[in-house]
Amino acid sequence: MSIANAFSSSLPGISPEVYGPADFKAVSNIVHAHAGIVLPQGKAMLVYSRLAPLVREAGVGTFAAFVEQMRVDEAQRMRAIKALTTNHTFFYREAHHFEHLAAVARPELVSALERGEKVRIWSAGCSSGEETWSLLMTLLGPDRPAGAVLAKRNLRVLASDLATHALTKARAATYGVSEIEPVPEPLRRAWAQVQGGEAVIGDLVRDLVRFRELNLLQDWPMRGRFDVIFCRNVMIYFDNPTKERLVERFAEMLRPGGYLYIGHSERVTGPAARLLAPVGPTIYQRSAR
Ligand SMILES: C[S@@+](CC[C@H](N)C(=O)[O-])C[C@H]1O[C@@H](n2cnc3c(N)ncnc32)[C@H](O)[C@@H]1O
Repeated sequence: MSIANAFSSSLPGISPEVYGPADFKAVSNIVHAHAGIVLPQGKAMLVYSRLAPLVREAGVGTFAAFVEQMRVDEAQRMRAIKALTTNHTFFYREAHHFEHLAAVARPELVSALERGEKVRIWSAGCSSGEETWSLLMTLLGPDRPAGAVLAKRNLRVLASDLATHALTKARAATYGVSEIEPVPEPLRRAWAQVQGGEAVIGDLVRDLVRFRELNLLQDWPMRGRFDVIFCRNVMIYFDNPTKERLVERFAEMLRPGGYLYIGHSERVTGPAARLLAPVGPTIYQRSAR
């Protein structure tokens, strides 16, 4: 279906002078160039509904005028890109990753911490934090006193996303009680408290995480390597060359023996496949060299 056809069939009631196929194409090109996100034609209505409030706020009458602002004004561009991100996430999503983390990676990481070594974990594309808290509760384990000792060791988690509105929710670390229920009960009991009808992640866990705004397509300021990287359900929105390059950069950022967890519909392809051995469904381990 051509873009023009997608418009005539799916955007009833919207004047093409306000928002037409050329505007959709321009927005999708900018979003792809700056965030790697591919917006297929079927997203024309979504682009309209997410950006229309920003177009109104900008005080311009047409998407074409707004697109011009997106081109020249970085703040406006990023506002639009953030509005177009998909931030859907939930606790303990893809449970087999956390089961692998608990059974295979955790014993190695706990030993490293007990030897006084540093352990660094990255939740890349963390959205509103559910992934980050799930992995950290898993790592600290169900025994609270033992987990509290681990938390005092050299353990840090970086959680990054480009969507600042999602990061604000992540930092608040407060969720509906039913939202946290997928996390096994012993972990919830150890690391979250129910207060005023909400589940709040405890301070000991929160203090281990640094939430940062980071566009994965840009330079990464981090120096050291990571023991574990989670980047799940982020690359599905990217095209193949972007995915391949990103996975290669993740492989370079992992210490030998470190683990990469990716989303259920994602795959490691391209040059990184030399460095990353599959060790479970959508779980990879960095080779020694
Ligand atoms: C669907 S959520 C996935 C959240 C979590 N990882 C999970 O699996 O449940 C995808 C996240 O990727 C983020 N994202 C998309 N493109 C990005 C980019 N270029 N740089 C950083 N984050 C990006 C979005 O803002 C969104 O919060």
